[in-house]
Amino acid sequence: MKEKLEAIKNSALSQIKETDSLEKLNDIRVAFLGKKGELTEVLKGMKDVAPEDRPKVGQIVNETREAIESLLAERIAMFEAEKLRRRYKAEKIDVTMPAKKAARGNLHPITQIKNELIDIFGSMGFEIYEGTEIETDHYNFTALNTPQDHPARDMQDTFYLSPEFLLRTQTSAGQIHVMETGKLPIKVISPGKVFRSDDDATHSPMFSQMEGLVVDKGITLCDLKGMLDVFVKKIFSEEVTTRLRPSYFPFTEPSVEVDVSCFQCGGKGCKLCKGTGWIEVLGAGVVNKKVLEGCNIDTEVYSGFAFGIGIERIAMLKYGINNIKLLFESDLRVLDQIDDN
Ligand code: PHE
Repeated sequence: MKEKLEAIKNSALSQIKETDSLEKLNDIRVAFLGKKGELTEVLKGMKDVAPEDRPKVGQIVNETREAIESLLAERIAMFEAEKLRRRYKAEKIDVTMPAKKAARGNLHPITQIKNELIDIFGSMGFEIYEGTEIETDHYNFTALNTPQDHPARDMQDTFYLSPEFLLRTQTSAGQIHVMETGKLPIKVISPGKVFRSDDDATHSPMFSQMEGLVVDKGITLCDLKGMLDVFVKKIFSEEVTTRLRPSYFPFTEPSVEVDVSCFQCGGKGCKLCKGTGWIEVLGAGVVNKKVLEGCNIDTEVYSGFAFGIGIERIAMLKYGINNIKLLFESDLRVLDQIDDN
């Protein structure tokens, strides 16, 4: 019996060692350890072993089984590791290979400029006030020192919804709402859409403005000029300077039209600046005392400045767009060229 077991063990171990696949290993297991396997068959002969020899033989059977099982386990682990290795190799991808670029959209140029303006003024400490597109005649005109029969009303062709309500023609309407809260000092910007019955290459019935309003003790036109100089350098370029020209708005006194030195020709005169070296970019001024008083602000102590930036105008200048319609037609051939990074 002992020899038989020894022979089984040797035969099993050598077969296992020679085997080159997982499937064959399984066949060997069945052939030796299975229900009808060789070792099992030998065990059936135990009944013929003398009782005193049985523990000894039993031990040898166990040892034989363990030897076969442990070599099987070892080999199986080896083949499985090898299988995995082969799979990793086959599925390997080169992560350093250049990928196909996915098409990526841009923010609309108007949004880009608006965000840029918000960043610039935000860094100067301005807060944001968002007004409404439908306004009353009072906030859009009367409270801004433009009563019903005022000739300045002709400056802006208005869409009236009723005698009282209209589509705001200027973000300046927001100035009154902010001042009415009674909180001082004030340092706000107010971006938003405005509407005028106006339509040509540089005007659209709907466009975007950004209002700025500062009210504090001792504010003068110099503060406005200083702040605008910082602003134009940031939005156009370091070399750009500003120039103020007298103008008229009912809600500012004095009022100015702000020009920037031409960032294309550096002021020598070119097509963009129509040979003048200057480009008009916004309207501004010192807040008219009448407007402050209307909002119960003590003009002995407080004064302010306001400005209104046309966002489309800045976008057209910055990106060299000559027709405002291009900003509203959503033509991807145009919009794709104005990348937002
Ligand atoms: N609201 C004026 C406009 O739309 C611009 C402006 C704003 C002028 C603030 C002065 C002060 O033309």
